Amino acid sequence: MTIQKTVLRALSGEALPVPPIWMMRQAGRYLPEYKATRAQAGDFLSLCYNPELAAEVTLQPIRRYGFDAAILFADILLLPQALGADLWFVTGEGPRLSTITTADQLAALKPAADVNDHLSPIYETIKILSKSLPVGTTLIGFAGSPWTVATYMIAGQGTPDQGPAHALKDENRLVFDGLIDIITDATIVYLSAQIEAGAEVIKLFDSWAGSLHGDDFAQYSIAPMRKITSALKSAYPDVPIIAFPRGAGEKYGNLHTAIGADCIALDDGVSADWAAKNVQTGGCVQGNLASRHMVTGGDALVAETRKIVDAFSGGPHIFNLGHGITPDADPENVQLMIDTVRGI
Ligand code: CP3
Repeated sequence: MTIQKTVLRALSGEALPVPPIWMMRQAGRYLPEYKATRAQAGDFLSLCYNPELAAEVTLQPIRRYGFDAAILFADILLLPQALGADLWFVTGEGPRLSTITTADQLAALKPAADVNDHLSPIYETIKILSKSLPVGTTLIGFAGSPWTVATYMIAGQGTPDQGPAHALKDENRLVFDGLIDIITDATIVYLSAQIEAGAEVIKLFDSWAGSLHGDDFAQYSIAPMRKITSALKSAYPDVPIIAFPRGAGEKYGNLHTAIGADCIALDDGVSADWAAKNVQTGGCVQGNLASRHMVTGGDALVAETRKIVDAFSGGPHIFNLGHGITPDADPENVQLMIDTVRGI
């Protein structure tokens, strides 16, 4: 069977004359239509758990820009909630969760195998999207990596340096390892169900990989992701996996094999020239335009976009930002980026 979708072709290792494009947080607050649907839903979590509206916001950037991939609209913190943690979002500040720092709190979590009931609306969103996306658009499902999800479950919020998670790792390794294990197992259950519902590609977001140093990087960023990719690959060998160990820096080299991923997503902390020589040699890469260009636009956006496309033109590449687009971005700059990549 010939693969038609450009994202799947790139993920299978093909160097395309024009790289396919999508954008992290492509459904988000920089779009007026997103803000309108979010207001209709009431709040962010109600939007995530409303399959019709979550599918609608997933489709909005596809309609507006014709991206080559759609990413399921949900959040990495729905999984802790499915495990029994309280979760709420404080407007203007971000997520808040009940914390897990003791053996009793860890033991009170639900079993990993039981997360599907709570997450069934997410699978419903995927089913709606599978029927409504344009034929050439690839549907990406996702989850957070165990380390990144654990940083939020331990601190109860986002932290600049993931200090509370590092402290628990150093002071109570038994509880810390137990938490990583249950998140890993629950993520396998969650992502398997996403694939069963129709997700064609899976992305693992390790947004805080950059704060793991020395042996910790291999043990807590790589190994849990590797366990997830092994489980998914043995059940669904044809579903490509993208891993995003954000902030990995020079450790970005050789990660395809270490993680067992088809594609490594790059943040903008590494240069495209360096990554072409040290990461793309292992397979497809995704990235890595700095998100601020979506705010500032102009000649710098065009020049930087061209530089990235050129640097990766010799191998498989999916064009993306180095991190999520921010709410202050100008939607017209997104169009300028797309036109530049496509040579229009
Ligand atoms: O368009 C997409 O990329 C798909 C949907 C998506 C969201 N979050 C929607 C969202 C995805 C893939 C995520 C992943 C996610 N969520 C990550 C990993 C990627 C990254 O950014 O590093 C993380 C760390 C989270 C946790 C999270 N969710 C935080 C820290 C915040 C608050 C910060 C912020 O940007 O407001 C969120 C909220 C969130 N998730 C929003 C969106 C569109 C904004 C919520 C709103 O509408 O108010």
